[in-house]
Amino acid sequence: MKNIVILTGAGISAESGLQTFRAADGLWHGHKIDDVATPEAYARDPNLVNEFYNARRRQLSEVKPNEAHLALAKLVKNWHRGEVLIVTQNVDDLHDRAAKEYGVPGHLIHLHGELLKARCTKTNFPTEWHGDILPDTVSPFDKTATLRPHIVWFGEMPFDMDEIYKALLKSSLFLSIGTSGNVHPASSFVEIAKRSGAHTVEFNIEPSVGNSLFDETRIGKATETVPAYVDELLRNE
Ligand code: OAD
Repeated sequence: MKNIVILTGAGISAESGLQTFRAADGLWHGHKIDDVATPEAYARDPNLVNEFYNARRRQLSEVKPNEAHLALAKLVKNWHRGEVLIVTQNVDDLHDRAAKEYGVPGHLIHLHGELLKARCTKTNFPTEWHGDILPDTVSPFDKTATLRPHIVWFGEMPFDMDEIYKALLKSSLFLSIGTSGNVHPASSFVEIAKRSGAHTVEFNIEPSVGNSLFDETRIGKATETVPAYVDELLRNE
């Protein structure tokens, strides 16, 4: 039995044309986290926060999954020695679309939420959402409430943590792809996986903040290193 947990971050979608957060031209250089990614920012100026995510939601129609997303979907489809779980910090839908191409839905957790969902500000029920969200967009669940982006903001609880910890504790291989390791709790997953005896590998164009915690590092673009590694794994299946 060889269960695999894969953590991905903005770096895996960079070559599809989506900005990362912390690069010199990244999202957090053009926008302040405190202005667009906290519950307080939303309470203060819902229009500004909605616009930040509306722009990113619109962008999704201009991009498509790259070779790294596709390689991971191929791994999910062809790995028979255990379970594979992809935990993404990304709010884009590129893993979802790659999984659809391979006919392997599921196996994916969006830890920080999804651009293509909105949720009711009163009931917290999420619903699929492809258009813009405006401060007066009425919730389909409660006519007296509005909708907000289905995004985990700083200070909010990430999704599905129980399921993620369970998977990490029974993993024997942990891969971390295209994440800078700056944001908790995702940055601590490598240590949890190690405690369960997993072999840990980082994929990045440069070593991340927590690189010394990994057993192995593959430096290079995700579209090159990830397909090559998946092929190695599947050759030894
Ligand atoms: P970051 O922008 O912090 O880091 C992106 C990482 O991807 C960096 O380590 C880059 O070196 C690497 N990278 C860039 N291009 C790459 C490529 N072609 N191949 C491989 N690696 C590449 O993004 P995240 O770590 O995902 O949270 O950020 C984590 C969280 O911080 C995000 O989910 C978001 C943000 O604030 C929330 O908004 C809650």
